[in-house]
Amino acid sequence: MATDAMPAHPMPRFPDGFLWGVSTSAHQIEGAAELRGPSVWDAFTAEPGRVKDGSTAAVACDHYHRYREDVALLAGLGVDAYRFSVSWPRVDSPGGLDFYDRLVDELCAAGVRPVPTLFHWDLPAGLDWLERDTAARFAEYVSLVAGRLGDRVGKWITLNEPAEHTLLGHALGVHAPGRELLFDALPAAHHQLLAHGLAVRALRAAGARDVGIANSHGPTWPASDDPADREAAEFYDLLLNRTFANPLLTGRYPEGIGDLMPGEVAADLEIIAEPLDWYGVNYYAPTRVGAPRGAEIEFGGVTLPAELPFSVREIEGRPRTDFGWPVVPEGLTELLTGFRDRYGDRLPPVVITENGCSYEGLDDRDRIAYLDGHVRALHRAIEAGVDVRGYFVWSLLDNFEWAEGYARRFGLVHVDFETLRRTPKASYGWFRDLLSGQRRVP
Ligand code: NOJ
Repeated sequence: MATDAMPAHPMPRFPDGFLWGVSTSAHQIEGAAELRGPSVWDAFTAEPGRVKDGSTAAVACDHYHRYREDVALLAGLGVDAYRFSVSWPRVDSPGGLDFYDRLVDELCAAGVRPVPTLFHWDLPAGLDWLERDTAARFAEYVSLVAGRLGDRVGKWITLNEPAEHTLLGHALGVHAPGRELLFDALPAAHHQLLAHGLAVRALRAAGARDVGIANSHGPTWPASDDPADREAAEFYDLLLNRTFANPLLTGRYPEGIGDLMPGEVAADLEIIAEPLDWYGVNYYAPTRVGAPRGAEIEFGGVTLPAELPFSVREIEGRPRTDFGWPVVPEGLTELLTGFRDRYGDRLPPVVITENGCSYEGLDDRDRIAYLDGHVRALHRAIEAGVDVRGYFVWSLLDNFEWAEGYARRFGLVHVDFETLRRTPKASYGWFRDLLSGQRRVP
């Protein structure tokens, strides 16, 4: 029976073997902070004013203790795969890896493929991405995890969104570790990329054959045809869409960026460009960018300083999520076809490792509309010839949304942060029906 929550047109069929999943990350859901070492996020959260609602991730969704219930929710959804992250500070603590052992066993028993991300921003306290040595330390940790889980885990993600971690954490100071270095933050980007390359080698040495990375990308739209706006938009696009993708896919930094990196990077670039089995894209929205306006700008909960060589503008005439982000599904088609045109044969198969939106409420029709529009936009990219192999919704659960605390709800499942009770939202039912529809024999 069709209800008005259900989009009117049948969902097109995705290729056989297409991987459907949902994503989370350790710091945002696990809690049980006392059973792991501290991360840079613990120290950051403890500073007054850093997290908007003054909350911490000490308990979060208490997934550490409730993972069985959460795996049952995944099984009920019927996803093929679950993208979670491994907390490095937990692995560094006695018994920490045992948790991921149990989680992976539970997933395998439920018929859900585990897809761990090895770094999703919760760097152990005392480590620093401005230090080159952190990359080597990361590779050691990755070898340890792969040695323990590699018999059951086939698909791996090295890093989550090094661009956002550099920008928000090291350039603008709105995420941990809270540095405001602007362009002097770029060495943190280089060391993360080096860590990625070393991790790919470590994973392959441990027998892994299905390795990717999850990078944030989105089309950049100039505010007008004015050359100053176009130039600013071009520069923003270079930072977001090329500074990380180019070294990974072509072995070179875009012009001008390499000079801002620490020292001689040619040998590192060979490591960074270690071939990937697939390329993960986190997509939320495009960005409209214009010439600098010489004043601070509030954008998506972030204050952008006046001295940046660009300014971010509103995208008018579009619905907005509760976060204020515009809803632009065709931006996903544009992004992926643009990527294919830019990188050609160098672009391995693509997986959408995150896509989602924040809305309140259990009857979350706006989320259904957002996801439905984006899944269709993804299908259009496939029809246009882009090799896309999977799609992961962000997120399974409402969770700790970094500097926003618990105020932004991205989950298909509602979490009551007082009782920790989980309640599937309308969007959970919608995604479950989409997946069962895809599996029906035509
Ligand atoms: C990207 C990040 O990977 C994830 O941690 C975050 O919660 C979502 N975007 C939503 O902002």
